[in-house]
Amino acid sequence: MRMLWKNIKGLVGAYELPPTYLSGKEMRNFAFIENAWLAIDNGNVVDFGAMSDFPGITDWSGLDVVDCSGRFVLPAWCDSHTHLVHAAPRGREFLARLEGKSYQEIAAAGGGILNSAKALQQMTEEQLLGDARVRLNQVIQSGTGAIEIKSGYGLTAESELKMLRVISALKKEFNIPIRATFLACHAVPEGDWTAESWTDHVIRELLPEVAKLNLADYVDAFCEKGYFGVENVEALLKAANQLSLSGKVHVNQFNAIGGVQMGIEHGVRSLDHLEELCAEDLEALSENARSAESPVFACALPGCSYFLSIPYSPVRKLMDADVPVALATDFNPGSAPSGNMGRVVQMGMVKMKMHPLEAIAAATINGAAAMGLQHAAGTIVPGRSANLIVTKPMDGLETMGYAFGEELVEKVFIGGLEQ
Ligand code: NIG
Ligand code: FE
Repeated sequence: MRMLWKNIKGLVGAYELPPTYLSGKEMRNFAFIENAWLAIDNGNVVDFGAMSDFPGITDWSGLDVVDCSGRFVLPAWCDSHTHLVHAAPRGREFLARLEGKSYQEIAAAGGGILNSAKALQQMTEEQLLGDARVRLNQVIQSGTGAIEIKSGYGLTAESELKMLRVISALKKEFNIPIRATFLACHAVPEGDWTAESWTDHVIRELLPEVAKLNLADYVDAFCEKGYFGVENVEALLKAANQLSLSGKVHVNQFNAIGGVQMGIEHGVRSLDHLEELCAEDLEALSENARSAESPVFACALPGCSYFLSIPYSPVRKLMDADVPVALATDFNPGSAPSGNMGRVVQMGMVKMKMHPLEAIAAATINGAAAMGLQHAAGTIVPGRSANLIVTKPMDGLETMGYAFGEELVEKVFIGGLEQ
């Protein structure tokens, strides 16, 4: 099927030769063509340009001409941090927080990740896959066209492998790029385990198995007081690197304990959360952005800040220091029960003072690169799959931050097909 979209009010992120990512200071210059056209053939982007340079139509056969007046066209969202595979919602814990308990108090009393793990251990692989499929369809409807999904709610070898097999099944079933992350050290399992003994067990038994079965693209850990210390995460990252797996780390969510510098030293792809960023961490990220060939992405998760009422990551400071920033949902039942990237982009603008093009770049080109999908997603490029968002008519891109209650994604296309 051939389509020609005409009179697009603004075409975002379209390149003949796209950059692999945008550094903090470049994000505001994400490609933008006012009054544009876009051609799609057989599910792929074919060509694009400004209406003023439109070459005209020579071959009308089977061509569907669509008038996009007033609308913006964007690359589909690239959500680089999710826990989309999980068990039941945790609304009761939310109620407990409304009654005054903190997220950490609830976790210390056996709620939180341990609560989700207990529920997940009891689910069959089919149930888990069925629920994940429903959620993935939902987030695609809201505009997501590439996604990273973590394990980490298994907390036994058997259940971690079960989660990773479910992610593998989703990869086969869905027509969008999916990255699997083995969240090896998420919480210390109940019983006689300590952070050290579980990390050691993971490194000796589980990680080699996951690598052998080719079930993960990345390895992750929760580096935080009460969870896993810097030494534990460092040992895990070293072991992962030896198996040619690179890392991602949940770090500085509640406390800055040195995980940022350690993660940079071990060549992680991204450092995620960063709600508490000290001067040394910012300097380390900035130095890495200046010098590394493939810099570490700072992945901010505003849905978690919103839902837990904790600080928003200082992305303005990070971008001013030229650090490439990504925005993701953190979709999970405890700290961010929403997989809607439009909401994340909206919070990026309102709560993190991102310019519309910065927030959109963080949620597309940089999100793709933060999960190693820069060749497949995050930009609109001739020859690539047409994974696209068409907005409702809007005054400007700032409407995506301004009209905060409105769903502004009108249509989503994956491989040129409307979802
Ligand atoms: O990224 N911080 C660690 N993990 C998740 C939350 C897990 C949960 O509460 O279930 C996160 O926020
Ligand atoms: Fe997370």
